[in-house]
Amino acid sequence: MELLLLRIILVLASLLTISATNSEGDALLDMKLKLKATGNQLSDWNWRQINPCTWYSVVCDNNNSVVEVTLPSMGFTGVLSPRIGELKHLNVLILSENRLSGTIPDTLASIPSLRDIRLAYNNLSGQIPGRLFHVAHYNFSGNSHLNCGPKFHHLCASHASYQESMHGHRGTGHGPTLNLKLKTMPTVDR
Ligand SMILES: *[C@@H]1O[C@H](CO)[C@@H](O)[C@H](O)[C@H]1NC(C)=O
Ligand SMILES: *[C@@H]1O[C@H](CO)[C@@H](O)[C@H](O)[C@H]1NC(C)=O
Ligand SMILES: *[C@@H]1O[C@H](CO)[C@@H](O)[C@H](O)[C@H]1NC(C)=O
Repeated sequence: MELLLLRIILVLASLLTISATNSEGDALLDMKLKLKATGNQLSDWNWRQINPCTWYSVVCDNNNSVVEVTLPSMGFTGVLSPRIGELKHLNVLILSENRLSGTIPDTLASIPSLRDIRLAYNNLSGQIPGRLFHVAHYNFSGNSHLNCGPKFHHLCASHASYQESMHGHRGTGHGPTLNLKLKTMPTVDR
């Protein structure tokens, strides 16, 4: 009896460990929900896959921290989850050319490692958190209600913004890690 109890406690403890080490997965799942991914979009973003590092268009570093999320032109119609800010090691966030509305959450600006953020051609509105203009590469163009451009103090895209070259041939212009990842990705209906 005591042994059984001990086993139950051990199982519960290991479950807790899994969910603790995958809090980034929780943040990504909230992001998926808020983006309004439909039908079979991001279908492998679920806990049957345990580790978010294997999820479609998610890249992690050697410590299994999420460093890149690349989801341009997916037809998403939702909003940006404030929980994106929980991806503390994120370098690259690409959600260009969707139909996202709402504001850019302040939490995004609290990610110190961010170096490339592309939200161009959505329907985002309101203030761009000031610190995002210090990210090395940013592109917010084509959102008619954001506070950037000629009437504001900030350009909508950094001069150093990477050339967008992902239409039809996603993956070009990225490092070898991402290319490898893209090759092994399942095909996804858009
Ligand atoms: C992984 O974690 C270790 C220990 O926290 C740290 O020293 C190292 O820089 C991290 N590596 C990466 C790629 O973030
Ligand atoms: C764009 O966003 C605004 C709210 O900021 C909304 O009223 C409008 O319907 C959206 N337009 C499209 C095309 O989604
Ligand atoms: C910003 O993104 C748009 C659409 O993805 C692209 O057409 C444009 O060239 C980008 N701007 C810069 C400066 O890279």
